[in-house]
Amino acid sequence: MTKLAIIYYSSYGTIHSMATRLAETAESAGAEVRLRRVRETAPDDVVQSVEPWAAHAASVADQPVAEPADLDWADAAIFGSGTRYGHVTSQLQAFIDTLGPLWQEGKLADKVYAAITSTSTQHGGQETTLEAMNTTFAHFGGIIVPPGYTDQVKFNDGNPYGVSKTAGSDLDDTDRAALDHLVTRVLMVAGKLRG
Ligand SMILES: Cc1cc2nc3c(=O)[nH]c(=O)nc-3n(C[C@H](O)[C@H](O)[C@H](O)COP(=O)(O)O)c2cc1C
Repeated sequence: MTKLAIIYYSSYGTIHSMATRLAETAESAGAEVRLRRVRETAPDDVVQSVEPWAAHAASVADQPVAEPADLDWADAAIFGSGTRYGHVTSQLQAFIDTLGPLWQEGKLADKVYAAITSTSTQHGGQETTLEAMNTTFAHFGGIIVPPGYTDQVKFNDGNPYGVSKTAGSDLDDTDRAALDHLVTRVLMVAGKLRG
């Protein structure tokens, strides 16, 4: 069984719904999955002052939080983060910043990695945010698995770097197809590496 960690941060729920779809598809494919949200780092009064942010935070409050051990455990990991001015969220970055000891021991290397993102506007930083995560994976010594255009579905969502969604609507068929393709490809490559 391939072990897949899905590590994500979501303020308003878009990345959460994308990550949940990845988890469901991976479990259907027989993978062992840890779906983990990263810890909120924004002050609670700030979160509570933005209604959709507070609502999403409350809806996931009982769900497990990502720990470095989840990456140590995994054969493959998919990171998810909305964009912040073209970069990953500080919340996901704060989690990444806790990975120094694992990195030092070489325990982040030789795993399969991929990324998903969301922006509020179509050209608001989807590619740069995915590439920022891919840069981190390179420093891990990870095996980065971009979707490319390796399936016809990729000509619909059109992002070869990962999977991205412009926020503001529920997942549609194009989103689901791109997410399913990404996670299936990650599991396929991870399975081949495990031998
Ligand atoms: C401080 C801040 C900066 C943001 N910067 C951008 C940006 O540069 N481009 C963009 O399209 N959206 C930007 N957004 C919108 C978020 O990326 C978007 O709402 C989020 O990714 C949706 O994912 P979520 O629902 O999982 O939180 C920004 C949001 C915040 C709060």
